[in-house]
Amino acid sequence: FLDKTLLTQLLTLISLTVALDNGLLKIPPMGWMAWERFRCDVDCQDDPENCISEGLFRDMADRLAEDGWRELGYEYIIIDDCWMSRLRDEQEKLQPEPSRFPGGIAKLARYIHDRGLKLGIYADMGTHTCMGFPGTTLDKIEIDAQTFASWGVDYLKFDGCYSNPVEQMQGYPLMSKALNATGRPIVYSCSWPAYLGGLPPNVNYSLLGDICHLWRNYYDIQDSWDSVQGIIEWFSDNQDDLQPAAGPGRWNDPDMLIIGNFGLSVDQARSQMALWAIMAAPLIMSNDLRNLANSARAILQNKMIIAINQDPMGIQGRRLLQEKSQIEVYWRPLSHSASALVFLSRRTDMPYLYHTSLAKLNYDAGSYEAYEVFTSSTVTGLNATTVFTVSINPSGVVMWYLIPQQKPRQSDTLYDQHKKASQFMFHKAKPGHSTL
Ligand code: GLA
Repeated sequence: FLDKTLLTQLLTLISLTVALDNGLLKIPPMGWMAWERFRCDVDCQDDPENCISEGLFRDMADRLAEDGWRELGYEYIIIDDCWMSRLRDEQEKLQPEPSRFPGGIAKLARYIHDRGLKLGIYADMGTHTCMGFPGTTLDKIEIDAQTFASWGVDYLKFDGCYSNPVEQMQGYPLMSKALNATGRPIVYSCSWPAYLGGLPPNVNYSLLGDICHLWRNYYDIQDSWDSVQGIIEWFSDNQDDLQPAAGPGRWNDPDMLIIGNFGLSVDQARSQMALWAIMAAPLIMSNDLRNLANSARAILQNKMIIAINQDPMGIQGRRLLQEKSQIEVYWRPLSHSASALVFLSRRTDMPYLYHTSLAKLNYDAGSYEAYEVFTSSTVTGLNATTVFTVSINPSGVVMWYLIPQQKPRQSDTLYDQHKKASQFMFHKAKPGHSTL
């Protein structure tokens, strides 16, 4: 349906737009978003605590500010669909539904900014949002960008329901330009690729990286391990196309963290967190921060895993191996020659003893120190050729942060030995293991 002249015109239009280079999101964003947990609950009569209303966002801002989240980097509070009134105002501006946002968005933005946080909002490139609220058609892009900036919005999620690929090809770059033109630094999250199947040639990732800070590539996450697993699988199966697209200021977005909700066991929650860190994914929770199990909090607030996710080099990791045993190995290179390894079990029986060596995982010869991210234990004096064994729970992970050691360390302390013995079973290094 795209004829060549139209395509050329569109490409020219796109190349004329100013690249979105406002220095934002050099590392993946962290924060909280309403959608997966609170959906389009507009029933403030019967469900006042959970409906999409200013109270919900104030509550979550209080929690982020008071429960240690902000200090860890969780800073964006993002409103999703269903915040709008069914009608634009008399000047054609979007407005919040007055019964649910009586103070208006600018006041909510002040509340959030006063707590050292940032506000995100949702709009849709099309005639309607996915839930049927007013959309942003091409003629409304400028006014909507201006409205958001005037309210003090810091982040826009721009969805793509109810538009076709030709309109999207105009609308997404135009919004980028319109946001730039406001003069306010606003993070721009594009759902565009998710509406085009997420892969080249339909999706042009270098263009996306120039105009958007992050983008949804694939289907919505749901509150289940199946959904998380499906997302991990799709991103890994397509890593040759997706992984090179990511970098500082340009991120793939496999969607929200659902840790703390109903669908994941503790092991599965660790798996989501581990894989999102490997993928350099946005760490945007969608859960009820007022009511969170300690196990979920511990996973989401794990400093080492957050540091891995937020590594300044910003290189997305990759799946290295899929074993017949249904063990998969993931790897991400990090600053200071460090790296992260994740061993994921897709088994459904019992903890699996996986034997390997760093050499088998493409590591250079030498000695390494490993930190187990979820148990905070340390392994020293690990040689690339050392065959080691990790015990991986069904649908769980073992995650390591690895640093090469310049010099071989002297003997382990007793404490190290104890930790090692309790966490890992070491086999004698097999001589002659070479780097793959
Ligand atoms: C789409 C998006 C979701 C959410 C809903 C809201 O499905 O992908 O993340 O924003 O719309 O209606």
